[in-house]
Amino acid sequence: MLSYLSRLVGVVRTVSGNPGLLRVELAFVGFNVAEWATWVSILAFAYEVGGAAATGLVALVQLVPAALVAPLAAIAGDRFRRERVLLAGYLAQSLAMAATAAALLAEAPVPLVYGLAALSATSITITRPAQNALLPSLARTTDELTAANVASSWTESVSVLGGPALAALLLGVSGPGAVFAVMAFALACSGLLVSWVRTVPEPAPASEGRPGWLGGVLGAALGGFRALARDRLPRLSVGLLTVQYLMVGVLDVLLVVLAFEVLDIGSAGVGLLNSAVGAGAILGSALTVLLVGRRLVVPMVAGFACWGLALGAVGLVPSRAGVPALLAVAGAGGILCEVAGRLLLQRSAPNEVLSRVFGVLEGVSMAAIGLGSVIVPAAIGWLGVRATLVGAGGLMLAGALVVWLRLAAAEVAAPLHAAELALLREIPMFAPLTAEVAERVASAMTGVEAPAGTVVIRQGADGDRFYVLAAGQVDVRLDGRSVATMGPGGYFGEIALLRDVPRTATVVATTDTRLYALERVPFLEAISGHPLSAERADAIATERHQAQQPPPAPGGA
Ligand code: CMP
Repeated sequence: MLSYLSRLVGVVRTVSGNPGLLRVELAFVGFNVAEWATWVSILAFAYEVGGAAATGLVALVQLVPAALVAPLAAIAGDRFRRERVLLAGYLAQSLAMAATAAALLAEAPVPLVYGLAALSATSITITRPAQNALLPSLARTTDELTAANVASSWTESVSVLGGPALAALLLGVSGPGAVFAVMAFALACSGLLVSWVRTVPEPAPASEGRPGWLGGVLGAALGGFRALARDRLPRLSVGLLTVQYLMVGVLDVLLVVLAFEVLDIGSAGVGLLNSAVGAGAILGSALTVLLVGRRLVVPMVAGFACWGLALGAVGLVPSRAGVPALLAVAGAGGILCEVAGRLLLQRSAPNEVLSRVFGVLEGVSMAAIGLGSVIVPAAIGWLGVRATLVGAGGLMLAGALVVWLRLAAAEVAAPLHAAELALLREIPMFAPLTAEVAERVASAMTGVEAPAGTVVIRQGADGDRFYVLAAGQVDVRLDGRSVATMGPGGYFGEIALLRDVPRTATVVATTDTRLYALERVPFLEAISGHPLSAERADAIATERHQAQQPPPAPGGA
């Protein structure tokens, strides 16, 4: 408990220590509350206009455009300054919500209200991919990045409780128009907060070329899907998160029906059940600090199992006293699945397509929530409410089994390149990389034997590899003069790759040596994968390069 509390304090302190991160996280609070409050209000509005079927339909009308736009919106996060994309997103959301508020207050035709609400929901898709891609640039260390991710997930889960509660309050006092108006204001404040955030601009990836605007946009959108088609772990994370979001959509509508038709506790009950899920999510979210730097298979299995067992139990024993507690367990399981899944994705997806992969996720999640909310009225019509709940629980238990079978193997298979990994971890520029990235780099290294006298690198030649010395000794020579010797753990060949220049020195094996070589692309990908790695690599290249310069002549101009 004490260690948990100290981690909690640590996360808050770490985020507060970085003004950019703090502003982004605070703005994210307004965003999350607004997202939930407007969502609950528009579903309540729909239920009053046309019952459960209308609720499901309205959910879909909002989610489909959002799902279609999300992958495209995410391109902006890779093409433009990410803090500006974040700001633009908040301003767009504020305007769309203000327009929805005006339509609701003026009692405009219902389809117009749904259309404007759909516009708000669509503009919401800009924020998460931009923010997920921005955090690594704002964080100066792996700890800051992890703390920021954990803080984001807390914000998300607290909003699950706070957003609907605030909506219930405003709905009671006034109506959905008031909810949208207040949230438009909150998002304007979020915009103001992030307008202060600055990052160093990152150059556009050289590989993208200029294939024309449309080709560029489509190619970029496809980049996210391509990365998922290629890499197993990111694909698995997106798959698991899809199931998780499907269940969120199922629950959105099930809670309304459960409150009105099974428990008979009316619209106040809808708020109560939502808050119960939210309270559980807060509890689960607090536990996610414990995921930092740990393997993710166990928390994920636990998350899916909690979800499944709790929903199944609600279906079997739907008592007024027991249901909120069971829903809290489901909420805790859900947040555990979500945070672990996002961590796994962030750890495993290549950085240059990170924003796009998260964009794909945002789109897929919208689609999954939408699908979940439209299949529920149909499933209820076919099976009844209680059997639908039991079926949903069964689906999540099957998910737990899939996690166990697929992820346990992937996580266990990792330490195959233990020798390379151990060497890499000792090199300062590779130390900040997450375990998954480090493992990917280690697996890309090839062993090279160089007998005594071998010229491994020749001054002036083109450079295509980086080397780490596992055993033996090498001599670094500049114009035939020895400038350095290295033993096991030493590394060389980084200057030509980082600076795109010919080899600046010759490296000769002075004993029989064993080396590991890393090709240019994986080397540069790994180094650009974290700001601290890039900084350290640059520092060592500068230091070595300067050591090559002859000392200035005394008194020389
Ligand atoms: P690169 O220029 O690609 O190829 C030669 C390598 O020798 C160079 O990268 C560095 O890794 C290494 N090197 C050059 N100068 C020094 C130095 N002064 N001390 C240690 N290593 C060096």
